Amino acid sequence: MERFDCRLLSRRTLSEGVRELAFARCDGQPLRFVPGQYVQVLFAADSYQGCYYSLSAPPQADGTFKLCVKDDDGLGARTLFALELGDTLAFAGPDGQLVLDREPGDAQRDVLLVATGTGIAPFRAMSDQLDARLSAGRRVQLLYGARQPVGLLYDDIWRELAARHEAFSYVATVSGEAQAGQEGVRRGRVTAHLAAALVASEAAQGELLALLCGIPAMVSEVRAALRDAGLDAAQIRTEY
Ligand SMILES: Cc1cc2nc3c(=O)[nH]c(=O)nc-3n(C[C@H](O)[C@H](O)[C@H](O)COP(=O)(O)OP(=O)(O)OC[C@H]3O[C@@H](n4cnc5c(N)ncnc54)[C@H](O)[C@@H]3O)c2cc1C
Ligand SMILES: NC(=O)c1ccc[n+]([C@@H]2O[C@H](COP(=O)([O-])OP(=O)(O)OC[C@H]3O[C@@H](n4cnc5c(N)ncnc54)[C@H](OP(=O)(O)O)[C@@H]3O)[C@@H](O)[C@H]2O)c1
Repeated sequence: MERFDCRLLSRRTLSEGVRELAFARCDGQPLRFVPGQYVQVLFAADSYQGCYYSLSAPPQADGTFKLCVKDDDGLGARTLFALELGDTLAFAGPDGQLVLDREPGDAQRDVLLVATGTGIAPFRAMSDQLDARLSAGRRVQLLYGARQPVGLLYDDIWRELAARHEAFSYVATVSGEAQAGQEGVRRGRVTAHLAAALVASEAAQGELLALLCGIPAMVSEVRAALRDAGLDAAQIRTEY
């Protein structure tokens, strides 16, 4: 895996405790990656110990890249949140198999994306690819869960995609206590809405490609439910 130093260019708060950080490589080279892949933030320049973060924006023309980081008080978040603009940090990568186009014929498949919390990051990086796939006549469903509506990251991006493509279904779910401002948002965990998403894609289930990302327990439960519904293991992509 390649190692490189990067400089923090900008940061913004996406929701409480979640920040988006933009970086550029110090050597001036663009970071080349496939949407869905991650990088490793290294804790020391002379070791490979670090934390993994999905690249959270489509590849940029200027070669910069973004991460979407939750403040979970882990060493990764503490390291990233301590950076000032212009500070540098060592990275390794990119790597990862949670990508849309991996096998022959993948581009012809309808897609089901299931995410919770910051697990949306790799799917945000795919938004241009998803747009192109929808324009080519494929169906895409996104089932996305958070505790509160404000935790639905990139909600505006998904709503805008749904407004432009009838074949894009965005189902946002919220598991916390009911609050105001939940228009178009369903109640409960994503797992409570999975069966409905599968019914919606029943005609295409043999061709469906499912990508799952978020809390490991959610990934395991959704994977098991998809297998029970008849999907092959090869139709389901996860990072773990
Ligand atoms: C593929 C992948 C992608 C991810 N993408 C994202 C993302 O986009 N956004 C996001 O918010 N999170 C993401 N995560 C989660 C993130 O990488 C961290 O796992 C999570 O934030 C918890 O971090 P942690 O430091 O508590 O612990 P861990 O992930 O358990 O620890 C990370 C590493 O730090 C070491 N370590 C921990 N504490 C110390 C210490 N005090 N001294 C030395 N070493 C220590 C551990 O041994 C381990 O090697 C992703 C995880 C994976 C696997
Ligand atoms: N590429 C990758 O692999 C990658 C990328 C980014 C993030 N991640 C991982 O994604 C996770 C994101 O965590 P987060 O803290 O941002 O999320 P979070 O805010 O803690 O949780 C988001 C939602 O997940 C729900 N949930 C919890 N357990 C569930 C289960 N078993 N089945 C279905 N839904 C469940 C929660 O419901 P309740 O309120 O009912 O608990 C909540 O609605 C982290 O573990 C991170 O490591 C992985």
